[in-house]
Amino acid sequence: MAAFGTVFTNEMILSRFENNSWSQPAVVATDSISLHPGAHVLHYASTCFEGMKAFRHADDSVHIFRMDKNVARLQQSSELLALPQIDAAMLSSMITEIVRRYAADVPMPPGSMYIRPTHIGTEASIGKAAAPSLSSLLYVLLSPVGDYFAGGAKALRLLLEDNARCASHMGMVKSGGNYASALQPIMKARAAVQADQVLFCPNGDVQETGAANFLLIDGNEIITKALDSSFLHGITRDSILTLARDRGMTVSERELTVDELLERAVKPGAEAALSGTAAVLTPVGTLIHAGKEYQVGGGIAGTTTASLRQALNDIQWGRAADTHGWLTKVS
Ligand SMILES: Cc1ncc(COP(=O)(O)O)c(C=O)c1O
Repeated sequence: MAAFGTVFTNEMILSRFENNSWSQPAVVATDSISLHPGAHVLHYASTCFEGMKAFRHADDSVHIFRMDKNVARLQQSSELLALPQIDAAMLSSMITEIVRRYAADVPMPPGSMYIRPTHIGTEASIGKAAAPSLSSLLYVLLSPVGDYFAGGAKALRLLLEDNARCASHMGMVKSGGNYASALQPIMKARAAVQADQVLFCPNGDVQETGAANFLLIDGNEIITKALDSSFLHGITRDSILTLARDRGMTVSERELTVDELLERAVKPGAEAALSGTAAVLTPVGTLIHAGKEYQVGGGIAGTTTASLRQALNDIQWGRAADTHGWLTKVS
């Protein structure tokens, strides 16, 4: 199967912000846009994006998972990057229109249609290092996908890194620059210790990995960093915590130090997992820190991670009641 995110539908939908207003959204060929080489985004990284999924149910209907949350997060990212304001209703209808148009291409579970709204600063100016782009382009790309982690839900190896993933005031912006600053540490971790991902823990504070949030599960308790501006407020994180509360688990959103994590993670019954739209909920099997390897739960695969992942997938795939109203039916 093609690598995650490398197959696109032939068309996307876009709107341009120019002279203080948005154009009527239009469906265009996916490879049809052109940018001035001096476009703000190409120099000053005025780019933000979203990632959400549409799922096919057994009756062939197609549903988008938590679209409102993703739209709100793109609005927040745009605001923090001083890009033009996005109208939630306009973006929601762009997303539903393009997904409906390509409903026949939404794969069966465990596949899905990955939806990538993107907002970039297009003003042709190489003198605006410290000023916002006055024009922008908003488009919604679609990519039919299978599983993100090749090998499905195999337990991951994480290297704990003492540095931050990105600037501490930018963590809750889903912006290209943050991924750029995380790239070298991740490449080095892969080469040095065959880590799958890096868990960024600046000053011993357990934050997140390059593309997912981190959760420690210890018996009936689920522990994850409380929301602040330093990391991305994952929508899967919120969904998993909600499902955990629904089943009576104790959810602790608070600071988690590397010392506490390493101490608790190795105990029998402990589990660790990454949550994200792409990762869903993927078990972590090994934590690597200061040259030492720690087997999570003493090396025994956890069952709570698998059952929470299943509970989330059951809602997404239409096999369990959508009691929180997370799905938007598009066709
Ligand atoms: C840096 C980072 N953290 C966390 C997440 C998880 O966010 P979500 O659950 O909304 O996909 C992502 C995206 O998937 C991410 O890129």
